[in-house]
Amino acid sequence: MTTLSERQIPLLDLQAQHKQIREEVLAEIVRVVDAQKFILGEDVQKLEAEIASYCGAKYAIGCASGSDALILTLMALDIRSGDKVLTTPYTFFATAGAISRIGAVPVFVDVEEDTFNLDANQVADILASQPKIRAMIPVHLFGGCADMDPICAMAAERGIAIIEDAAQSIGSEYKNRRAGSIGQVGALSFFPSKNLGGYGDGGMVTTNDASLVDRLSALRVHGRTGKYFHQWIGINSRLDALQAAVLRVKFRHLDRWTAGRQNNAERYRAQFAKLSVPVIPSQPTGYQTRHVYNQFVIRCSERDALQSYLKKQGIGSEVYYPLPLHLQPCFSDLGYKKGDFPVSEKLATNSLALPIHAELGADDIDYVADSIRSFYARACGSSQS
Ligand SMILES: Cc1ncc(COP(=O)(O)O)c(C=O)c1O
Repeated sequence: MTTLSERQIPLLDLQAQHKQIREEVLAEIVRVVDAQKFILGEDVQKLEAEIASYCGAKYAIGCASGSDALILTLMALDIRSGDKVLTTPYTFFATAGAISRIGAVPVFVDVEEDTFNLDANQVADILASQPKIRAMIPVHLFGGCADMDPICAMAAERGIAIIEDAAQSIGSEYKNRRAGSIGQVGALSFFPSKNLGGYGDGGMVTTNDASLVDRLSALRVHGRTGKYFHQWIGINSRLDALQAAVLRVKFRHLDRWTAGRQNNAERYRAQFAKLSVPVIPSQPTGYQTRHVYNQFVIRCSERDALQSYLKKQGIGSEVYYPLPLHLQPCFSDLGYKKGDFPVSEKLATNSLALPIHAELGADDIDYVADSIRSFYARACGSSQS
């Protein structure tokens, strides 16, 4: 008979976060509801200014989701049907889904095992063999930046646009530059589980490129440039005033919450310092000058058994991502097969995200670490302590 632990440590605890800010948020919701102005408007503009400045970008354009931020960006860059866009197969579906949604073709390149991000050496090989690539979408996965210098240099050489998928990485830094300000455009998500999560869907595009701003602003309102006048065919993807008002409250706490995530990551590292399994994310590499730990992902070959064991101990965990994108049924027409991206395929079998959110106490982290230690002591007869 299995005994369920009385202690519960969820992967994410939005209730605990909400309790800290409930009064502030409710006051803002009442204000917006009383004003009865729900779409775009002043709250969205203020949030756009705050996020642009936070990301080190000149401009930010709010929209309905991170997925739409990618789609709008591809449209604004005039990526067309049949154009090729390079990205990673080891990311959330939306990255490649956005490329296909506009009729372009995703070209996948494998990732580095330790950073989970695009392998710049392999990017070079693909660019050399596929001249028709028009844009690249490096993803800053789990809160850590991809190695952007070589990627940007290759893009500049070939006149290729760079769209940073920074959905999981608001505030993350590459050589002291913030995610969303390094490429031509950045896409942010405010999905509730993100480090800055709304009370529903939301997203934002960041850029330093003034020539894209009018177009992006128009594309999110059906390409409208004047009342009932449409310069382009856009989509309906606006950020709600209610979401912007909630996000502005949460934004004031973002750095504190990020510091909480970083402290938790350090505590895990100290706890696991003497273990060889599982593999804990190493200290951010030289170029990752600020990791924001949207996820803390370990690697181990006994992943599924470990996840079941943790569940019995009341510990939430998640597999990001169990099936790399090149093997998804909807992309079968791209012609990829098993074995094409061995690192992504391996990560799909051995990666496991542990609780890392800022509301966890030191004793919670220690409990997770103790549980993992006891799993290895029991399941593997390991002598590690
Ligand atoms: C890497 C990545 N890209 C894009 C998205 C899409 O964001 P949204 O869910 O806001 O559409 C997500 C969201 O999970 C993501 O993790």
